[in-house]
Amino acid sequence: MSLPAINPTKTEAWKMLEKHFQEMKEQQMQDVFSEDPNRAERFKIEWQDFYVDYSNNRITEKTISLLLKLAEEVKLKEAIAQQFSGEKINETENRAVLHTALRDYDNMKPEVKSTLQKMKLFSEKIISGSHKGFTGKVITDVVNIGIGGSHLGPEMVTEALQFYKNHLKIQFIANIDGDDVTEKLNKLNPETTLFVVVSKSFTTQETIANASFVRSWFLKRGTQNDIQKHFVAVSANGNGAKEFGISEHNIYPMQDWVGGRFSLWSSVGLSICCAVGFNNFEAMLKGAFEMDNHFKKEDFENNIPVVLALLSIWYNNFFKAESEAVVAYSQYLNKLVPYLQQAVMESNGKSVDRNGEKIDYQTGTIVWGNVGSNSQHAYFQLLHQGTKLIPTDFIGFRESLHGNIENHNILMANFFAQTEALWEGTHNKKVEDPFKNFEGNKPTNTILIKKLTPKNLGSLIALYEHKLFVQGIIWNIFSYDQWGVELGKTIAKSTLAAIEKREPSAIVSASTQKLLDKFLGMKS
Ligand code: F6P
Repeated sequence: MSLPAINPTKTEAWKMLEKHFQEMKEQQMQDVFSEDPNRAERFKIEWQDFYVDYSNNRITEKTISLLLKLAEEVKLKEAIAQQFSGEKINETENRAVLHTALRDYDNMKPEVKSTLQKMKLFSEKIISGSHKGFTGKVITDVVNIGIGGSHLGPEMVTEALQFYKNHLKIQFIANIDGDDVTEKLNKLNPETTLFVVVSKSFTTQETIANASFVRSWFLKRGTQNDIQKHFVAVSANGNGAKEFGISEHNIYPMQDWVGGRFSLWSSVGLSICCAVGFNNFEAMLKGAFEMDNHFKKEDFENNIPVVLALLSIWYNNFFKAESEAVVAYSQYLNKLVPYLQQAVMESNGKSVDRNGEKIDYQTGTIVWGNVGSNSQHAYFQLLHQGTKLIPTDFIGFRESLHGNIENHNILMANFFAQTEALWEGTHNKKVEDPFKNFEGNKPTNTILIKKLTPKNLGSLIALYEHKLFVQGIIWNIFSYDQWGVELGKTIAKSTLAAIEKREPSAIVSASTQKLLDKFLGMKS
């Protein structure tokens, strides 16, 4: 069955929200806490190690009930059930969307189980040193070669779980920038390095070119036979990996029902397993599984991904906020934003609805941000006093991992102070100097988590996955395809041919022709 395809702007709830927005848009909301001492208690969700406070938002009870009505009218409940049951909801690619099946510990598919087992055995051999390189030495470095979803998830997680890391050094070659590849290879010894070539399609230009370059580098020291000790592949295209020269045994399969940007839970997580050990990887899967159950079973009112998605819709479509920021107060999460940028923007950057019609309302929020407290000394000025409305998620942890309590208290004091400053501003203070005035009324969500564990990290990532899905359902778009990346890829092929043949005139665009003339040092 197809996903429901309801234009959200035609629902009764949307019309009511538009009206309600007129009452809300100018309201300075700082006094709501004194008017309703219960507000912080009302607008929060407590779940496992998570405490989500959304009381600092420009909302009332009525806003929430109308947003919930919207979710009902667009048939969100039915859509969630369709996703989890494996219906082909990625209709433009005719695929199911089942990254949740990779962590479904109630009902794990046999192929998922066997891949996990294979990942466990292999990563254990690499970590213990029983797997030896071509000169009999143990592996010291693992290099993930892949881009997009075949890079961002593993890199974000290995950074985030650094505290749980073993002795192996993990590197990522993603960019086709040859300087970057060379910089990385210069620090590696082929005798002690394992390369994990990750590409769902095994046709991605950057990955194949980089992997080929690395293979040639390796073959300066090792032989063709040695490749099997140093190269493994993760792919849904086994034949492509074999043609590249990786043996069947060294191929870790992926299913077509796992989208690239949702694939860190699959064999794409092999470098994560090597970095932190299989048990930690599994704990992360279990954390995601718990969040899946919360998302699937909890009433929408107490459902973290649903509530956060609805708030985001409120700002995006009614306040016309163009972007939202994510600021994690943990250096470990310094790769979270690039990861979320792919997840959210590749999914929801769409302007045609599920009926194939051009959309006349806003979709796809722009996600940006960085870690706190660094961000405070960079772009927070704009959040506090700029002209744009930028709803922001603050993510913080109750406990630090190394137990440096003094620093952690300072970090978290800043965390809490910022949401307060953004909300309260100088509203109740008499500030004569206009340059020192803070309007406040800036919305934030506070996601306070007990501790950065593999399990909680899994839940956090799954939270954002489900949030973006809810938004896609409400906007009536297909979140799980990414046709928008194809055109540039196709043009790059002919551009490359023109560069290699030194034939700018083969290019259609006059602008590109001129640029290529310059690039190739030719006169026009
Ligand atoms: O270009 C976008 C994209 O298709 C992403 O969706 C994907 O994660 C990435 O390229 C890498 O694809 P692959 O894993 O097939 O190399």
